[in-house]
Parts: sequence; structure tokens; C-alpha cells
Amino acid sequence: MRINERSKDEALAKDRSDPTGQRMTTDQGIGIEHTDDSLRVGTRGPTLLEDFHFREKLTRFDHERIPERVVHARGSAAHGYFQVYESQAEYTKARFLQDPSVKTPVFVRFSTVAGSRGSADTVRDVRGFAVKFYTEEGNFDLVGNNIPVFFIQDGIKFPDVVHAVKPEPHHEMPQAASAHDSFWDFVSLVPETAHMIMWVMSDRALPRSYRMMEGFGVHTFRLVNAKGVSRFVKFHWKPLLGVHSLVWDESQKLAGKDPDYHRRDLWEAIEAGDYPEYELGVQIIEEADVEKLGIELLDPTKIVPEELVPVRRIGKLTLNRNPTNFFAETEQVAFCVANVVPGIDFTDDPLMQARLFSYLDTQLSRLGGPNFAEIPINRPLAPVHNHQQDGIKRHRIDAGRANYHPNSLSGGCPMLSAANKGGFTHFPAKVTGEKTRTRSESFSDHFSQAGLFFRSMSKPEKEHIIAALLFELGKVERKEIRQRVVEQILAKIDGELAIPVAEGLGL
Ligand code: HEM
Repeated sequence: MRINERSKDEALAKDRSDPTGQRMTTDQGIGIEHTDDSLRVGTRGPTLLEDFHFREKLTRFDHERIPERVVHARGSAAHGYFQVYESQAEYTKARFLQDPSVKTPVFVRFSTVAGSRGSADTVRDVRGFAVKFYTEEGNFDLVGNNIPVFFIQDGIKFPDVVHAVKPEPHHEMPQAASAHDSFWDFVSLVPETAHMIMWVMSDRALPRSYRMMEGFGVHTFRLVNAKGVSRFVKFHWKPLLGVHSLVWDESQKLAGKDPDYHRRDLWEAIEAGDYPEYELGVQIIEEADVEKLGIELLDPTKIVPEELVPVRRIGKLTLNRNPTNFFAETEQVAFCVANVVPGIDFTDDPLMQARLFSYLDTQLSRLGGPNFAEIPINRPLAPVHNHQQDGIKRHRIDAGRANYHPNSLSGGCPMLSAANKGGFTHFPAKVTGEKTRTRSESFSDHFSQAGLFFRSMSKPEKEHIIAALLFELGKVERKEIRQRVVEQILAKIDGELAIPVAEGLGL
């Protein structure tokens, strides 16, 4: 099958409905004559149960909401396409990275992490940068953030960090993610957060626009070529408008005056034909070079500095169409780290391994059962055939008699033989070892890169980080938590950071 920029749009068109000028009906297609008064006995009497239009209208309204995402609830999205600059066959067999003439349709959702669906856009927070590529070989989701590292090294701690970041459970306060006791309590007790804290306290956590922020896959992935050779890769998105931030004062005022600031900016830029563009960058690391690099590639709290491994820009993402319906597309889209195509593969990063489980699992409840891949925005352009069946909200009607493999009955049977050559095979990485909950020593340096980050900042940038820490820690009620953050985290990052913060907090 051949995919082009319009393929997803054309597929979605079949599901779009424009009611303009159409006769109003019930969900059963029965014409409605009157929708402003319920059916009653006499003009002042009780409403009748037989008024099916009234009951349907209220029932449908009562069930409009679905659970918001457990994180990244507030988001904005756009359609577009991705085009590779030249074939990447040397590194990967992923088909959408071979032919520069192919425009692969994409859907991209940007988000904040901590706030709920109706929260303000310009808060201090990490931003999600999730890209769904509708490729000929199925969907590839690059579910990234605008910060290249993460708070924790092992996914088993994700519920802990998110509970600490979100409003406290007894009174659901505060809405501001990083300005409260539980968040800083967690940080002070978990030193692996140090590097991420530097980024979150920097201006990177206050992007001026979704069009002006970078994106990162964070984890180390693998690229695998047609010969079966694997290399490690870090994915980057580089905005062509450059990276720009708000300052704290602007961001606070905007949060009050226009909570939709980033959503509006994205929407209006696309409507005006001012299409956001980002280049896809890769840092490729030969397996043989890992040791001399001296960086634990499985640790998501570490970057690979661009001075050591330059980012090579291999293609461009252009966002050129706003969604037709927020709920149907932006809210119902389901990204998943496990959605990869042949030529892209996972590593043993323990954060990534947890994510491979978590997204599909949460979507089973958020999107009401196992058939959410049939929702138009999630449907791959590549054909889907298998023996998965039934379940709540099933739409596809599979023909035939045989729903198991192998079988000797004809009809209803997808091929699993020669026709399947080129299907996904996991890279046969070697693993050995004893079962253990012990982390490798190579995960134990939490402060070097945090310090490098701080020391690489210009004077005003350093001042912004110190001011952010003073603001956020100034909201922490317990003195021992403030003390512990300064002593156990900041002092180990850099004295030039810890001393002004300690003085400013009166410690
Ligand atoms: C959303 C889990 C780490 C990026 C989510 C959701 C869950 C989740 C449950 C909600 C998904 C939905 O309802 O559709 C986890 C777990 C993590 C983790 C368990 C660590 C073990 C990360 C990291 C990144 C990231 C490191 C960035 C590289 C995102 C993004 C979304 C998201 C961008 C929003 C996707 C969208 O726009 O719909 N995550 N996450 N997450 N996560 Fe993670």
C-alpha cells in the first residue's frame, strides 16, 4: 500500500458528519419536530416517561465525559505529515524512513503533565510531545517530552512521583504542580530526580509556544537495519522557530488572563497557514562505542551530550491542519510507547519497560475497553487482520468461520506464513543474569549531569533557576523538607546554586 499526506485525512473523512442544514433526528434516525419542551400531561403537569427524545437527550448528556488521562490530561493537537530528507536504510529498515518522496501522515498532541483538563497552559511543568506516525507498516508512536531526561530511573516509581506531583489527596491542593510539600518531599528523598529538577526549574519548563519547544524520546531506542544490525538511538525534535521561553512573570499573568494561551497559539498559527515545523534528529551510537562513551544509556535521567554525539537531522514534521473535533481526535487519541514498526526497537531501560505496559493498560479504562484502536483517530492506515474479537464497543465485522490459528477451515483467516515475511521481529538482544531488585552501579551518579546543566547556563538563566527554586520552595511549609532539598540535592549539584537558595530561604 502507498500512503501519502492526505491518506489519514481521507480515512477520517468517512467518519466525519456535518449536520449543517440537515433534519434533526434521534440517535435511531427518527425525525424530531420539537426539542424545546418535554412531553407532559397538561401544560403544567408531570413529564411523561414515554418521551424518548427527552430521555435520550438527557442520557447522552449525562454520559458525555470520559476519565481524563491520569497524567498529561490537558493537551492540544494537530494533524500534519513527516518527510525524511534521505533514506536511512543504513540504520533502519523502517519504511517511512526510506523514501524522501513519501509524506507520512501524523497526529501530534502537546500537553502539560500535572494539571487537569481545564488547567492553564503556561504553568511551570514538563510538556508532552507525542507523535503518531500512520505508516504503511502500522502506527509508530514517539511519545516524548520537551525535556530530555525524567524524574526517575525505574517505572515502578512512576505512581510515587505522580502522586507526589499531583494535588495532595486530602484536600486536592495545590493545583500548581511543583509548589508544595509532597513534591519537594519526594525530590529531597529521591536523589535521582536531581537532573530533572534542574530542567524543570529552568526556563525550559515555561515554553513560549508549542511551536518553539524541543521534543525528546528520552529513552535510548534501537534502530535495526535490513541486515539485522542494531544501533542505539536517541530521538530529538528541533523546532525550526528555535527554542523560546516565557519568563515567570509573563507565564503567571498569562495563566490568569488566557489559560488557553498555548492552545490558541497553535490553533491560530495553523489557521493562518503559519505551519509549525520540527526536524527529527537522531543521535546514533554504535554498540561497540557504548563503553568508551561512559554514559549509562539505559538510565533515563542522563543525556548523551551533543558535543559527544552530534544530533543528525533526518527529516521534517509539518503541522498543517487543526482537528475537526476536539473530543473525537485530541481527547480520544491513544499513544503507546509499544507501538513501533519493524526497524525500531526497545532497550532494557527500566522506565521504558514500565511504559511498554502502562499506556495500553490505562487506555483500557480511559477509552472503555479493548477496542479503542478502532476509534477513527487511532485506526492505522495499514490493514488490520487477526483473530482478536468481540469485547465492548466492537465495530469491525469480521467475516468467516475460522477465528483461531492454525486451522484447516477456509474463510476468515489471516495469513501467518510466507506473506508475513517482513513483519515485526524483536531484536535478539542477549540477556543473562540473576533475578534481582538491585540497580546497577552505573545508575548511581545522580549529580554530575545536573551540575553540568547548571554550569552550562548563562548568568540570567542561572538567576531564573535560583528564583524558581526560591518561589517553589518558598511555598513548602515544612522547614525540614526545604532543608533536605538544599542539603541533599542542591548542595550536591553546585554550591553556586545551593548557597543563594539557602540564604533566600533563610536556612
Ligand atoms: C501519558 C504513564 C513516563 C510522555 C501517559 C499516560 C500514562 C503514562 C498512564 C496516560 C495515557 C493515556 O491515558 O492515554 C507513564 C509511565 C511512565 C511515563 C508509567 C514511566 C514509567 C513518561 C516519559 C515520557 C512520557 C518518560 C516522555 C518521554 C507521555 C506523554 C503522554 C503520556 C507525552 C501524553 C500522551 C498524549 O498526548 O495522549 N503516560 N508515563 N511519559 N506520557 Fe507517560
